[in-house]
Amino acid sequence: MAVLVTGGAGYIGSHTAVALGETGRDVVIVDNFVNSSPRAVEAVRALTTAEVALVEVDLCDGEAVRRVFAQYPITEVVHFAAHKAVAESVEKPVAYYRNNLDSLLGLLEAMLDNGVGSLVHSSSCTVYGQPEVLPVSESAPVGAESPYGWTKLMSEQIITDVCAVRPMDAMILRYFNPVGAHPSGTLGEDPNDIPNNLVPLVMEVACGRRETLQVFGGDYDTVDGSGVRDYIHVVDLAEAHVAALDVLVGGHRGAVAVNVGTGTGTSVLELIEAARRATGAAIPYEICERRAGDIAKTWAATDLAAELLGWRATRDIDDMMRDHWRWQCQNPDGYGR
Ligand code: NAD
Ligand code: WQD
Repeated sequence: MAVLVTGGAGYIGSHTAVALGETGRDVVIVDNFVNSSPRAVEAVRALTTAEVALVEVDLCDGEAVRRVFAQYPITEVVHFAAHKAVAESVEKPVAYYRNNLDSLLGLLEAMLDNGVGSLVHSSSCTVYGQPEVLPVSESAPVGAESPYGWTKLMSEQIITDVCAVRPMDAMILRYFNPVGAHPSGTLGEDPNDIPNNLVPLVMEVACGRRETLQVFGGDYDTVDGSGVRDYIHVVDLAEAHVAALDVLVGGHRGAVAVNVGTGTGTSVLELIEAARRATGAAIPYEICERRAGDIAKTWAATDLAAELLGWRATRDIDDMMRDHWRWQCQNPDGYGR
């Protein structure tokens, strides 16, 4: 018995592979390294005694996916593999729809053909846009403002439709803003090009690679005018996947979407303060124009995750900054691609 982890060489997938290994599950990672390195899988192996197989496959290649199911005794699937950059998706919509939807469809076909009926799927708080009511609950209206966001919504719909008529059950996890790294400092986020998420940029300023941080917007209706998000430690997020698989294996039926956040909003300026505490660096910043497409504030309602998964985040913003910083210091060039 093994768990297939698609995109398992990536940021969240690699941490989840370690968390799955801690439960004694063997893991089969499938990745084409379009946004990751095989060295992440070496780091996963060093952190677990479980078997971690690695198969280099493009999930859009349906035949190759079938061969993976023929080769390994897969009983559960966690599906991370996707392109994830919002701005890039606006520039390259076809590539995003092709990659994120083809990969899911081929995977679902292989699962159905092989009688594998437990799926945990990566979705995103991006499906809520700017929520009218905070904290945002799973029943809030959804929509999309980018091709990336549409691929997440369409994926949710496809999975829901399949689960309604076929022997398949799914936990669709809507992540808020994953940050941080494994406490060992050997596993973390390794953005391919220039990072555009806040925490990797803050860390680049902290280590002197970048002079100042641009804070996008100082006049939002928030605690201090800067944007507010629900940052979640990647290890908490990984543990939510284990909890979700356990619930599926325990007999949960159908498809359900569940928020995975801490329930706490943190502003950009508050996050900079936490990064200063963790790093001891000054982290100079300047308040700039709002970034196009940004929302002002969001944070998650976490009741459903607590009730259904028996899971709550346990790590706070200081833990997130400390662990991200340790990863950054120990691996200034990431995995060195
Ligand atoms: P990541 O880019 O680090 O990991 C994705 C992995 O999938 C990479 O290793 C990449 O090489 C692989 N991949 C992509 N397309 C593939 C394909 N066709 N075949 C095989 N492998 C392929 O990203 P991440 O941050 O770990 O995100 C994982 C999932 O979580 C994604 O679905 C993403 O949309 C979702 N998500 C991420 C965030 C975030 O801020 N990081 C937030 C919400 C949701
Ligand atoms: C966080 C805050 C910025 C950079 C993105 C995706 C979303 C999801 C999570 C995948 C915002 C501010 C940022 C900077 C700044 N991913 N900021 N200066 O935009 O909340 O969400 O990742 O599903 O779909 O859109 O994350 O880290 O880019 O920004 O002030 O240089 O930091 O304005 O308030 P975001 P982020």
